[in-house]
Amino acid sequence: MTNNRETPIEISKEKFKKIGYQLIDTISNFIDTIEDKPVTAGESSGLLQKLLGNDSLPENGRPAEELLTKASELILNHSLLNGHPKFLGYITSSAAPIAALADLLAATVNPNVGAQILSPIATEIEKQTVKWLAEFIDVGPGYGGILVSGGNMANFTAFFAAITAKAPKNFKEDGLGISSKKLLVYCSKTTHTWVGKAAILSGLGSRSIRWIKTDDGNRMDNDVLERTIKDDLKEGHQPIMIIGTAGDVSTGVVDNLKGVASICKKYDLWFHIDGAYGIPAAVIPKLKTLFEGIKEADSIALDPHKWLYSPLEAGCTLVKNPMHLTDTYSSHPEYYNFNNNDEDAYQNYYEYGLQNSRGFRALKVWLTLQQVGKNGYVKMISEDIELAELLFKLAKNHAELEAITQNLSITTLRYVPLNYPQNIKNKEAYLNALNEALLNKLQQGGEVFLSNAIVREKYCLRGCIVNFRTSKKDIAEIIDIIVREGEKIHRKFQEKQIQK
Ligand SMILES: Cc1ncc(COP(=O)(O)O)c(C=O)c1O
Repeated sequence: MTNNRETPIEISKEKFKKIGYQLIDTISNFIDTIEDKPVTAGESSGLLQKLLGNDSLPENGRPAEELLTKASELILNHSLLNGHPKFLGYITSSAAPIAALADLLAATVNPNVGAQILSPIATEIEKQTVKWLAEFIDVGPGYGGILVSGGNMANFTAFFAAITAKAPKNFKEDGLGISSKKLLVYCSKTTHTWVGKAAILSGLGSRSIRWIKTDDGNRMDNDVLERTIKDDLKEGHQPIMIIGTAGDVSTGVVDNLKGVASICKKYDLWFHIDGAYGIPAAVIPKLKTLFEGIKEADSIALDPHKWLYSPLEAGCTLVKNPMHLTDTYSSHPEYYNFNNNDEDAYQNYYEYGLQNSRGFRALKVWLTLQQVGKNGYVKMISEDIELAELLFKLAKNHAELEAITQNLSITTLRYVPLNYPQNIKNKEAYLNALNEALLNKLQQGGEVFLSNAIVREKYCLRGCIVNFRTSKKDIAEIIDIIVREGEKIHRKFQEKQIQK
């Protein structure tokens, strides 16, 4: 019997091939010429709304070919290009081209990776991907985990598992309020904002976070950490977990994780590492000592969509004992018939995290890991670090720049003019305002995209290189652009002073 149902959504084989090839042609030209384009066109939201027009929801459909041509034009010409060699902002990587093809393949089959029966091969591929990520950072074969949307979710997934493991046994039924003791979480002042959200959403409350000050190297001060825990115990509170950071978001500093691990052991606390950005650098043999202690972690967040060059969205939670994930997330509603196979290795991902229906985000990570191999990553991550070192060195040697910090692939620096206005009262405030204006100018200008960091109250420009397209030439050119634009803004500031 032939299928004679006609729908407005199906695309014939011939049509699919035609428009698919056209799209692939357009995409390959885009990738090939990406460095000739501006990093961003810096267009306002109002201008882009005009471009989209103000039509109401279409009553009737339109041809797929026409729509894809229009969408390609819009997206390829009006986006900020984080795949551009001079994009060094925040922590979004250039995306591996193979992963774009992987997403097409994944969406074509559209497996629901919530349950094994709904996604037989996709579930096995996700399991293998998680296993390879644990091998990548060399934490040992027992770790299991799940792919999630990114760093926030990877950390939340672990945070809730830590609470389940350490809170009073009946908290699931009675809530955290039943504990007579205040449950406390310890982390450095530099920890990413996810921890605040997690404390609020978990019901612990933001006052359950003990923000530990940093030492001279900007690492969590482990002496202060231990003293704070002791004081809290004396007060009758219940410390439950410590969060160490492996590459902090602003300056890339890695906490003394070995020290944190031993404090966790001593006080029987859950040891979580937020390695969303930096932990892939543990693959580099000469950096092994910097990451010492990671094998002791109860849980680790690691983002393939940061330094493994996966397109958004891909984060990963790794847990030393995966049973903590099922203890936290597993449920067996009567409308699921997902556990009728008695094989040991049977795994339903809905029992490992917050999502129920789940997409096949593992495919892009799995394919990229194989295309590049461990050695390929050692090369690319090492080169990113060398480029950050070069940026620091060039800034240090330049009379109008001050190099501030360099850790992993993050460098912070600022523009410092040679001459100041004569009546200047507060030089630091002037430099902060100048560098903030400079960053805004650079972010709009389209030649380079940097972000900012505040280091020891100095407003800095921040370059984070998780970009396999950036070269030494780009770094040298970026230095020239910063100085050229810095001089212009300084001149403008001076003119304003004179006019006052
Ligand atoms: C150390 C760290 N943790 C967590 C996050 C949050 O990651 P995401 O933006 O993928 O949620 C970031 C983001 O930059 C980060 O640098």
